[in-house]
Order: sequence, then C-alpha cells, then structure tokens
Amino acid sequence: MPTLTINGQTHNVDVEPNTPLLWALRENVGLTGTKYGCGIAQCGACTVHLDGVAVRSCSTPVSAAVGKQITTIEGLAANGTLNNVQKAWLDLDVPQCGYCQSGMIMAVTALLREKPKPTDAEINSAITNICRCGTYQQVRAAIHAAASA
Ligand code: FES
Ligand code: FES
Repeated sequence: MPTLTINGQTHNVDVEPNTPLLWALRENVGLTGTKYGCGIAQCGACTVHLDGVAVRSCSTPVSAAVGKQITTIEGLAANGTLNNVQKAWLDLDVPQCGYCQSGMIMAVTALLREKPKPTDAEINSAITNICRCGTYQQVRAAIHAAASA
C-alpha cells in the first residue's frame, strides 16, 4: 500500500501505484479542495505541489508522489496564516464560481516561489489553467498584487 506525505501528514492509501494522485487525494484521503476538470492535464483544476513544484494530479501516478512532500490547497496556509497569493485573491475578489481557483492558487504560488516578480509574459507561459468564468484579468492583477506584497 503506497504511503503518501500530504500537508505534513502520512497516509497509507489503498490504491494501485498507477492510480492518479487526484483520486487518492479526493477519494482515499478526503481532500476535496483539489478539483477534477478534464482528467487529461489540460485545465489545471487538479494542481497540487510535489516538493514545491506544481503538478497536475489527474495525470500524476501515485507512485510519482511517494517520498515527496505533497501540498494541497488545504495545506497551503501555514498554521492558519494565508500566504500572499491567498490574501491577494481575497483582497481582489478573484473567484467567480470558484471551481478552478484552488488549482489556480496552487499554480500561482509555485510560480511566485520560482519567480517572485513575474512579467506578464512569464505569467502567460506559466499559468495555463483554464477558468470557465473568465477570471483571467483578476488572476493577473492578483498575481502582481501578491508579488508586490
Ligand atoms: S483535471 Fe487535471 S488538468 Fe484538468
Ligand atoms: S472561477 Fe469559475 S471556473 Fe474559474
């Protein structure tokens, strides 16, 4: 049975090693903040971090996450303190329906860790998450706000 470290806690998950990480997170561990959108690595709704790097968990097998620190949206706030991205999202009222937003926040947090002051071109190439509500302008503004916080 694979053992996963998720948001600092160890979980034994009763799944095959090639099961998508997204299913293990949602169905086995009950962390439903990570969403299923397309299932084929296109939309980004399922984005989580493996050792701080954004990955699309619908297309990442559980076996690839064993031995890594997995962070989901539920574990992003350290001791209940929102990070700068989460704060900017609240300040600028980014979400509409909210479905894509946990994946969006995870992707943006990973981007700002790598590039603390991204240009619009860097945002365009790094943040390819799809938002059916069209929050792209608010997302961009919130990325710049979080980068200047
Ligand atoms: S559900 Fe994983 S990228 Fe769309
Ligand atoms: S806020 Fe609705 S899909 Fe993005």
